[in-house]
Amino acid sequence: MHVKKAIFPVGGLGTRFLPATKSMPKEMLPIVDKPLIQYAVEEAANAGIEQFIFVTSRGKSAIENHFDHSFELENNLLAKGKRTTLASAQEMLKIPGSYAYVRQQEPAGLGHAIWCARHLIQNEPFAVILADDLIFGQSTIKKMIKNYTSGNMVAIMEVDKEKVSSYGIVKVDNSDKDLMQINQMVEKPSIENAPSNLAIVGRYILDDKIFDVLEKQERGASHEIQLTDAISSQIGKKPCFGYKIQDERFDCGSKLGFLQANVSYALSRNDLNSDLTDWLKKII
Ligand code: UTP
Repeated sequence: MHVKKAIFPVGGLGTRFLPATKSMPKEMLPIVDKPLIQYAVEEAANAGIEQFIFVTSRGKSAIENHFDHSFELENNLLAKGKRTTLASAQEMLKIPGSYAYVRQQEPAGLGHAIWCARHLIQNEPFAVILADDLIFGQSTIKKMIKNYTSGNMVAIMEVDKEKVSSYGIVKVDNSDKDLMQINQMVEKPSIENAPSNLAIVGRYILDDKIFDVLEKQERGASHEIQLTDAISSQIGKKPCFGYKIQDERFDCGSKLGFLQANVSYALSRNDLNSDLTDWLKKII
């Protein structure tokens, strides 16, 4: 199935990363030398996505600027003949009209953020990518689209039992397969009430009927409009699949996940691996 639009919800406050995120969007935090949101857009483009829809909020204009020209910088680099550096400053420019932005006026939850983009989606399935969930290899959404037929699909991974209350948790039929049928979904359950330790991570392919559910604006856990609740309410009416991710995932909305991502990505790079390895050996 051809999925050509992706929504990037970037309207959250990023409170777990204060004070860094007081005036800077969490999604602009760099992993080595690229902001998280760029990894997310690259992953989408790599999956054939053609339209990139950002749900932003006050204080997030750095994201819009990142995907636009910076004439002063570009002219300066051109004049100095720094062509490779210039190319890296221009690599995210796409054909005009590829990027669209809508504002979420209050951080009322992920479900609310997605609903804010409803007018930009016609009768078609669409992808959702959370930039702070960084998945190594940047091919997860591509694999999900390849496996998508209809209904809703979420990316899932196993988490420690003690961590289930931080995630949306699913119950599946056949947990030994990569693609599983989901028959229950609950947002941030207590350890006792969790139906499994399979957690939803930030990649989704959704049927546009989800907007009819989100329209009702029902509040769930943390008094937010939860995407998990909306998807859950469609189980039984629409097929619902879980795609087990195959690569390492970093929760870059947390300090530890962010640090681990930086070290892992730096070690995967030829220009940094050797010096960083030497230094790590020395300090550990
Ligand atoms: P998070 O819950 O991880 O982000 O939402 P947050 O609320 O910004 O961070 P903390 O928990 O306070 O530290 C996952 C994604 O959903 C977006 C966030 O920007 C993030 O990319 N989001 C969340 C919205 O766009 N709007 C919201 O109302 C909530």
